[in-house]
Amino acid sequence: MTQTHEKLLLRALNGETLPRPPVWLMRQAGRYLPEYRKLRAEADGFLDLCFTPDLAVEVTLQPIRRYGFDAAILFSDILVLPHALGQKVWFEEGVGPRLEAIETAAGLDRLSKEGLHEALTPVYETVRRLRTSLPEEVALIGFAGAPWTVASYMLEGGSSKDFAAGKRWAYGAPEDFRRLIDLLVDATGDYLIAQIDAGAEAVQIFDSWAGVWPEAAFREWCLEPAKALTARLRQERPEVPVILFPRGAGLLYRDFARETGAQALGLDTTVPLAWARSELQPHVAVQGNLDPIMLVAGGEGLTAAVDRILRELGQGPFVFNLGHGIVPQTPPEHVSRLMEQIHAFSAEHAG
Ligand code: CP3
Repeated sequence: MTQTHEKLLLRALNGETLPRPPVWLMRQAGRYLPEYRKLRAEADGFLDLCFTPDLAVEVTLQPIRRYGFDAAILFSDILVLPHALGQKVWFEEGVGPRLEAIETAAGLDRLSKEGLHEALTPVYETVRRLRTSLPEEVALIGFAGAPWTVASYMLEGGSSKDFAAGKRWAYGAPEDFRRLIDLLVDATGDYLIAQIDAGAEAVQIFDSWAGVWPEAAFREWCLEPAKALTARLRQERPEVPVILFPRGAGLLYRDFARETGAQALGLDTTVPLAWARSELQPHVAVQGNLDPIMLVAGGEGLTAAVDRILRELGQGPFVFNLGHGIVPQTPPEHVSRLMEQIHAFSAEHAG
C-alpha cells in the first residue's frame, strides 16, 4: 500500500467504509480560534494573509495542532480566483468581501486568464510548503469555489440576499452569463490542477449558493459546470478525489451523486440522513452534515446530533464534517468535545 492511501480521508473518499470516520471541519481555520485572530491582527489584510505563504501555512496548521483533524484545508478564499482574473477584490472589516461588480458585457471582456498562475503563485507555494510540514497521516485538501457561486460574487459585487444580479444575467442575458460560467469552469480547472501539482491530495469545490435556482437553471448553472470540471479533473489527475458541495441542492443531490463522477458529496445540514444513506451513499462517499450552530450551542443536543450522524452515515463511505462552515462564535472547547466523541465512537466500533 502506498503511503497516500493509508490516510483515512483518502481511503474514505475512495469508497472505503472505515470503523473510524475521518473528520475535518469546513472553515476549521478562522476567527473562532484565538491564535487565528492574533495572527490576523498582525497581517495587513485578509487577502495578504491568503497571499503570504508563511502566514497561510501557519493558519492552516493551527487547527491541526490544536485538534488533530484528519485533513488540512489550504487556507485561502474562493475569491482569489476573480482577483487572479483581473477583477478588483477586497475585504472590508465587519462587512465581508467586496468586488468591483461587473455590470455590462464589456466588463466581462476585461477578465482574462493570462495572469492567472502568476497571481496565484503564492497559493501554490503555500500548498507546496504544507505538504512538507503536515504530519504524515494528515491529508491536504485544495479547493475552489464553483463557477456559479464565484460568478454570484463577481456580478453582485459582494454577498447577496436574493442573488438578483446573477439571476438577471442568467435569465436576461444567458449568452453573456454562459461566457462567464465557461471562463470560470476553465480557469477553476487550471487552478485546481495547479494546486494538485503543488501537492493537494483531494479537492473540494464549494457551490455555497447552489440552492437558489429553479430546477432547469440549477442543471444548467450548477450541475453541468460541476460535471465538466469533475470530468476534466478525473481525466487529467485521476488519482485525486473530487468532493462537490452543492449546498442547498435538496432532491437534486441525487443527480449530483449519479451524474457528476465525483468521489464524494458534501451534504448541507438539511439533507436527511436516512435518505443520504439510501440514495447517495451507494454512488458516492458522503461528507457532513452537523449544523454549525449545534456546535455553538453544545451540550446534550450536540452529543445526540453527532451520534445520530455517526450511526446513520458511518455504515458506508463517510467523512465527518459540518453542513456549512464553522462560525466565529463557536467555543473552541466544543470542537475538542466533538473530537473526543468521534474518537470514542471509533474505538467502540473498531475491530
Ligand atoms: O475552510 C477553511 O478553513 C479554509 C479557508 C476558507 C475560507 N473561505 C477562509 C475565510 C474557505 C474554504 C473559504 C471558502 C469560501 N469563501 C466560501 C465557500 C464556503 C462557504 O462558507 O460557503 C465563500 C462563499 C467564501 C467567500 C467569503 N470569504 C465570505 C462570504 C467571507 C466573509 C464571511 C466571513 O466569515 O467573514 C469570506 C472571508 C473569509 N474567508 C474568512 C476566512 C477565515 C474571514 C475573514 C477574516 O478573517 O476576517
